[in-house]
Amino acid sequence: MTLPPKPKPRENKVSLWRYLQLFRRDILSAQPARLYRAWMAEFRTPFFRSYLCNQPELVDLVLKQRPDDFPKSRRIREGLSPLLGNSVFVTNGETWKRQRRIIDPAFEGGRLRDTFPSMLVAGQGAVARLTALADGAPVEIEEQTSHLAADVIFRTLFSIPIEHDVANQVFSKFRAHQRSQPVVNLGALLPLPKWFPRFHNRKTRQTARDIRGLITRLTSDRMHEIKAGTAPDDLATKIMTTSDPLTGQRFDTGEMVDQVAIFFLAGHETSASALAWALYLLALYPEWQERLAAEACKVFGDGEIEFSKVGKLRISRNVFRETLRLYPPVPMMVREAACPENFRDRAIPKGAQIVLSPWHLHRHERLWERPDEFDPARFATENGKSCLRNAYIPFSAGQRVCTGAGFAMIEGPLLLSMMVQACRFERVAGREAMPVAHLTVRGLDGIWLSMTPRTGA
Ligand code: HEM
Repeated sequence: MTLPPKPKPRENKVSLWRYLQLFRRDILSAQPARLYRAWMAEFRTPFFRSYLCNQPELVDLVLKQRPDDFPKSRRIREGLSPLLGNSVFVTNGETWKRQRRIIDPAFEGGRLRDTFPSMLVAGQGAVARLTALADGAPVEIEEQTSHLAADVIFRTLFSIPIEHDVANQVFSKFRAHQRSQPVVNLGALLPLPKWFPRFHNRKTRQTARDIRGLITRLTSDRMHEIKAGTAPDDLATKIMTTSDPLTGQRFDTGEMVDQVAIFFLAGHETSASALAWALYLLALYPEWQERLAAEACKVFGDGEIEFSKVGKLRISRNVFRETLRLYPPVPMMVREAACPENFRDRAIPKGAQIVLSPWHLHRHERLWERPDEFDPARFATENGKSCLRNAYIPFSAGQRVCTGAGFAMIEGPLLLSMMVQACRFERVAGREAMPVAHLTVRGLDGIWLSMTPRTGA
């Protein structure tokens, strides 16, 4: 049976220098195989101590029970600050709580219904682009899903399409930014001494400045529109006009720029990765692709695609869920122990890095049945249901859970169904994808597929 691609783990013992080299190349293959079985693993070096926690009770403790005692690692800023400033992704404590109080209402269920038409238009645009490429020739699909996910974000946030001049510039600058800083989380995952060469080069800082300059334009234009009473009713307007119920404060333009940067980054990179892997898996398992296409035809029919229909895309949702299990776009998250702890009878010093790894937890051999197999039907089994509750965190969990989780779980199944209804996706011989973790989990040499139109769809 064909298993979905998985990087070969490194040998068990390597020098610190070798580990850093491997880590810089790809954080997934830099890890040893034992992490797929361990409940906890300690990484002790002269410079740092990290603890990777796989035991569901520990993950629960860190994320849900005592999240304030395990704040986001300060090291996260090392990689992200030039771009994200003081965004909700990197702040802690009272600042973070205030930011979430303002942001969260924009992503509540009712508001998601309002963003749906923008998602749909973006999906129709993607279908048109893919259909034009559906001549059986190889296509790098991540580029397509990236374009699509960026379009969704710009339309839902600012009511502008990706073709808009500023949106387009932000999109291409982000690509350049990613190329100049391939492993953005390195500083966060590996607390290194001050003298160790950092990977923030001049180019990275420049692209971050350029992106922020463009986002500032969008945000201050919107501020003027809000004042003039001409602003469209989208996510940006909602967030910028919401006051914190406790302090009465709103975001000023500067703080909003930080948030827009993270919405764009977190919202488009992750969805693009998940959609590309979902299409790749459907090409590997054509029987699932056919089932998904049939479901899309049945649910969408010939009429308008409405919000209420998304809930009926059960196969699509399970395929998307299974994709997020096998290829969690955010493969690892880092927290810091604010005080000394005792985990599994081991003393954890204050300041230690606590690594939670969706990548390893989702493929844990002592938790999941057939962890490396692609089986969207698993979520109906007892094991699947129990793992969904205890060992499945593609969006993290607890108070710091992804703001866009609900948004993504509408966007993903909807777009997947629309694309598969329009085209048949097939593997390209000699171009198998291999996951590596850059900013998100991507294909080492991209993800290549060929497409043909589905006649009669
Ligand atoms: C498949 C799609 C997505 C996945 C897998 C995903 C995953 C995640 C994960 C794992 C985190 C927690 C990271 C950490 O704690 O270190 C996170 C945080 C976040 N995500 Fe998402 N995300 C997705 C889509 C989105 C979308 C569409 C948006 C917004 C439009 C979004 C906005 C955010 C924000 C603002 C945070 C920071 C929350 C906080 O720290 O309080 N994400 N996401």
